[in-house]
Amino acid sequence: MASSISLLLLLSSSLLLHSYFQYAEAQQVADGLSWSFYNSSCPNLESIVRKQLKKVFKNDIGQAAGLLRLHFHDCFVQGCDGSVLLDGSASGPSEQTAPPNLSLRAEAFKIIDDLRRRVHKKCGGIVSCADILALASRDSIFLSGGPDYNVPLGRRDGLDFATIAATLANLPAPSSNTTTLLESLGTKGFTATDVVALSGGHTIGIGHCSSFTGRLYPNQDPVMDKTFARNLKTICPAPNSNNTTQLDLRSPNIFDNKYYVDLMNRQGLFTSDQDLYQDSRTRAIVTSFAANQTIFFENFVTAVVKMSQLNVLTGAQGEIRANCSARNSGSLLLSPVVVAGEEKELRSTV
Ligand code: HEM
Ligand SMILES: *[C@@H]1O[C@H](CO)[C@@H](O)[C@H](O)[C@H]1NC(C)=O
Ligand SMILES: *[C@@H]1O[C@H](CO)[C@@H](O)[C@H](O)[C@H]1NC(C)=O
Ligand SMILES: *[C@@H]1O[C@H](CO)[C@@H](O)[C@H](O)[C@H]1NC(C)=O
Ligand SMILES: *[C@@H]1O[C@H](CO)[C@@H](O)[C@H](O)[C@H]1NC(C)=O
Ligand SMILES: *[C@@H]1O[C@H](CO)[C@@H](O)[C@H](O)[C@H]1NC(C)=O
Ligand SMILES: *[C@@H]1O[C@H](CO)[C@@H](O)[C@H](O)[C@H]1NC(C)=O
Ligand SMILES: *[C@@H]1O[C@H](CO)[C@@H](O)[C@H](O)[C@H]1NC(C)=O
Repeated sequence: MASSISLLLLLSSSLLLHSYFQYAEAQQVADGLSWSFYNSSCPNLESIVRKQLKKVFKNDIGQAAGLLRLHFHDCFVQGCDGSVLLDGSASGPSEQTAPPNLSLRAEAFKIIDDLRRRVHKKCGGIVSCADILALASRDSIFLSGGPDYNVPLGRRDGLDFATIAATLANLPAPSSNTTTLLESLGTKGFTATDVVALSGGHTIGIGHCSSFTGRLYPNQDPVMDKTFARNLKTICPAPNSNNTTQLDLRSPNIFDNKYYVDLMNRQGLFTSDQDLYQDSRTRAIVTSFAANQTIFFENFVTAVVKMSQLNVLTGAQGEIRANCSARNSGSLLLSPVVVAGEEKELRSTV
């Protein structure tokens, strides 16, 4: 395991021959965010996060996928405000009732709060959980073999957790076709190219049977490769089997363009993945990403930096949480960091 990770790191550094920073920096920066937000107030922020995640991934590279998906869920549901991290959020750290297709890894929440603790120890409680999650997501991509890039920082943490209704309304189901994806992501400002590039996040990580057995039972999706379908039926003998499989069968733990090669071979796991190749509006984009990884990385960086700025809170909005799972005003133990406005809110809500 350790040697395959050093190989990955070697691979990543050789990919640096091609720099992707310009694609991030060509993106418009949301009001209140900046490329150098903590450069003087917490100059070690990015190295603290990257150094710790290198250690975490050396133990378990699967956590990179968990962190990337956590950031996606945070940003898509009421903006990148750390709301997904709150206890009480529909797919938050202690949520037992979330639909199985929302199952976020419990460990990912712990990794974020551990990073928060390390950063706050060094710099004081000035860095938001939402920013730490955005950086952890960036490093998950890079440390799995993907492009390196900068993310604008300065997000504030939201006070409200994500309800189940808002969560389901903002996250497309894996059974979605391309029309549904283009509509749903279009309302957030994403182009067809962005949609195909962002779906490439499925080049790492796993999915549960319940997310794709609709394509196997009662009738097999005729689009799906027959051998692939047979293998999936072994992994999930019944629609509700409690099992998981990799999203990208060619290189499940490496952030590369093999996901698009899977789609061209009709080995995409979810309908939302496979239909990107079946639909004439997105097929050529899939083909171009499969043919040239550099083109995928350039477009992914553009799209993910856009995603990382969805409806951010900045300036005096929200707060900087002292515990990523709880708003400051929710805990009397944390009263020293509670500011007047939040105390008022505490009285009016409890
Ligand atoms: C476009 C619409 C999307 C749909 C329908 C979708 C759906 C899903 C589903 C159903 C799972 C598996 C959940 C489970 O069964 O446990 C999953 C996993 C994952 N998704 Fe997506 N997703 C989408 C977009 C994204 C985006 C934009 C990203 C990031 C850029 C992303 C990153 C991931 C990752 C990394 C995993 C694996 C998580 C793990 O291993 O813990 N997804 N997604
Ligand atoms: C701010 O820090 C980042 C990360 O260390 C660095 O890439 C960037 O060049 C710095 N920006 C400025 C304006 O100093
Ligand atoms: C998750 O599954 C539920 C049914 O269990 C469905 O209503 C919902 O749309 C799905 N949501 C996502 C994001 O996959
Ligand atoms: C896509 O899915 C929607 C919602 O299920 C459905 O109404 C529509 O007919 C589908 N479009 C295509 C082209 O399959
Ligand atoms: C889970 O999947 C593995 C293959 O990845 C398979 O060998 C095993 O039988 C499956 N478990 C169940 C309970 O279906
Ligand atoms: C599913 O399996 C995992 C271990 O693979 C276990 O932790 C979990 O409790 C199981 N869930 C159910 C509903 O049986
Ligand atoms: C891949 O695309 C990049 C960026 O457009 C280009 O510079 C490079 O020459 C392409 N590589 C191949 C093998 O076509
Ligand atoms: C952080 O908040 C959660 C949710 O309220 C709580 O369970 C946990 O104990 C808190 N952690 C610390 C270190 O206070």
